[in-house]
Amino acid sequence: MTTPVWEARADLVVVGTGVAGLTAALRARELGLRVLVVTKAEQGDGNTRWAQGGVAVVLPGEHDEGDTVEAHVRDTLVAGAGLCDEDAVRAIIAGGPAAVARLRERGAVFDSGVDGRLARTREGGHSAFRVVHAGGDATGAEVERALLAAARDGRVPVLENHIAVDAVRTPLGQVCGLLVLDGGGVPGVLTAPAVLLASGGLGQLYQATSNPEVATGDGLALALRAGAVAADVEFVQFHPTVLYTGRGARGRCPLVTEAVRGEGAVLVDATGARVMRGVHPLEDLAPRDVVAAAITRHMAGGPGGIDDHVFLDATSISDFARRFPTVHAACVAAGIDPATAPIPVAPAAHFACGGVVSDVDGRTGVTGLYAAGEVARTGLHGANRLASNSLLEGLVVGTRAAEAVASDLALGLQAKCTGTAELPVAPVADRDALQRVMSRYAAIGRDAEGLAVVGSVLDLSTVDRRLDTRELVEDAALTVAARALIAAAAERTESRGCHVRTDFPQRDDVNWLRSQVVRLTPSGQPVLADPVTTARTVA
Ligand code: SIN
Repeated sequence: MTTPVWEARADLVVVGTGVAGLTAALRARELGLRVLVVTKAEQGDGNTRWAQGGVAVVLPGEHDEGDTVEAHVRDTLVAGAGLCDEDAVRAIIAGGPAAVARLRERGAVFDSGVDGRLARTREGGHSAFRVVHAGGDATGAEVERALLAAARDGRVPVLENHIAVDAVRTPLGQVCGLLVLDGGGVPGVLTAPAVLLASGGLGQLYQATSNPEVATGDGLALALRAGAVAADVEFVQFHPTVLYTGRGARGRCPLVTEAVRGEGAVLVDATGARVMRGVHPLEDLAPRDVVAAAITRHMAGGPGGIDDHVFLDATSISDFARRFPTVHAACVAAGIDPATAPIPVAPAAHFACGGVVSDVDGRTGVTGLYAAGEVARTGLHGANRLASNSLLEGLVVGTRAAEAVASDLALGLQAKCTGTAELPVAPVADRDALQRVMSRYAAIGRDAEGLAVVGSVLDLSTVDRRLDTRELVEDAALTVAARALIAAAAERTESRGCHVRTDFPQRDDVNWLRSQVVRLTPSGQPVLADPVTTARTVA
């Protein structure tokens, strides 16, 4: 039994300093709430700053001829392969223009075109040029900079180097605070009637990912332990193009934004043959799941197998260094000049399309627990996220979640923690073993046998541990996330969106036009629960 040794109070505790968390904190502050932001790392160390492409949005007076919010909705539903919640899609996309306007008021500067209006690019799955960007390919960095500056100006308190371990709950199960560990492993409780998880994704389930080291699925695990449910966790999106730097890449790999293809680059193999020719009518701008799977198939059929790479020929793009400074710098560091030579690329884990089941106002099924951003599953992404819809979701749902908290507090939401909070004991697998088998058997191209191997390796390498260090909290989260993913992936006997089964290669709308829900058993094992009810559109 551990008695927390310190305590702080707020109306709302926000976990995470990415786009969703900071947007929520700023809105909560405007609404007069006492808000406290907590992050396990330093401010700005999350996924947001690595986002390159931009924000997908149809702005009044700044869109392609004929482009509409409805067309953006349609593209999102098609990319989501039948599993989007259409009401959620409509609500979030309709909220985009106001959310981007608010972000600009907070100081974010987007790139302008020659006509002085916002420059727009195109990415996979988009039927129009509607992705606004900043710093060429540094949109996430600019969004993060602006939000952090606004948070500093607005005196939003941020507690760095404190990892969220568990929601503290009343005997009736209502959230009343957050149990955290500081950098020295000292536990403490942040008491608040509302906790918003905006802690990002879980790319570290895999050996190679576009995500930073902090993306270990902590929020998903915390929410499941608090009694919330998750859905669509089998749909992990692999970005088609991270920079290939040799076999056995580990950790965060430099992203090569899809906007490079949006501006004319094409995928080719070592012989110069086009990878996407004949695969999809949109060829190199097909939805991301289609492109990543096609590259994987192409590599599997080549001499180097799936650990190999293809190339992105961007030599047709004039002024590459100015338009894509981040990608250019990464290429130069690897000894490649994209103006004259094709860029070696391969797919890598990028985005969790599923997560904690929550509505578009961030409310989960647990009173006092909210979720926004990549950790949440609002139904926007379905089985495959449309490119550049995630910063948009963070901006819109972050705002709405803060407003929902304010409204719930006004309607009497309150909870008082009684007694002490204990650091939980949870199953913890060996991280290296977990990443190795997840990459080998649960990435693009899964089958029943391989998923069973993942389960066996996790069984062998898992021990119950008290979560009293940041590393153990992260490893426990990765363990729960991996178990949830393989349970859902093994059950889904079809291929859809980011979930590619080599033993069930067809999409099966008769049996599988539905999401799967995961909950935790009292012993901490993820199991499949009843299906989530959503309004779905067959794409
Ligand atoms: C990219 O720039 O290709 C990534 C953007 C995204 O994941 O939405």
